[in-house]
Amino acid sequence: MQTVLILHNILRWAVLFFGFWTLINAITGVSSKRIYTANDNRSNLFFMICCDIQLLAGLALYFSNAWFDKIKAGMGPVMKNGYDRFFTVEHAGVMILAWILVHVGRSAVKKAPTDAAKHKKMLIFFGLALLLILVSIPWPFRAEIARPYFRWFN
Ligand code: HEM
Repeated sequence: MQTVLILHNILRWAVLFFGFWTLINAITGVSSKRIYTANDNRSNLFFMICCDIQLLAGLALYFSNAWFDKIKAGMGPVMKNGYDRFFTVEHAGVMILAWILVHVGRSAVKKAPTDAAKHKKMLIFFGLALLLILVSIPWPFRAEIARPYFRWFN
């Protein structure tokens, strides 16, 4: 599971890279009223693929690293412990919500009838998903739940 944890740690940077690329495309698309290009499509497709891999890695960690066992043992103690509550409930729950937004967003962008509507949907769905991801990452400066910026084999 060390390898999966390293993958999950490092892939967060790819998620953020493609998330911000998508957001910048959406903002420039809305503000300059330009056409929806292959570059717009590529940015949010890569964002979605990275989120998909994160979901799989996250689920593997969740079930293999005893987080789910803690829930089975009882929600009371989990909710009282900030660290356990973050990883079992908050991080997993909010990230799954972000993942749903990315998938619903991609289908909404595809179905939108005009380029202006596509950019608007891109801004709303992917912008909100990126915000949820940013606030749910266990950054090193978040005292109780701190995890490193980078992780490698030790
Ligand atoms: C875009 C989505 C996600 C991002 C950016 C993300 C990011 C992270 C980061 C940076 C860590 C800390 C890694 C480390 O300690 O080096 C982490 C830990 C963790 N994540 Fe995620 N995550 C995402 C989605 C998910 C999902 C959907 C789940 C579960 C359903 C999940 C479950 C976990 C668990 C259980 C841990 C703790 C692993 C352990 O120490 O045993 N993550 N995540």
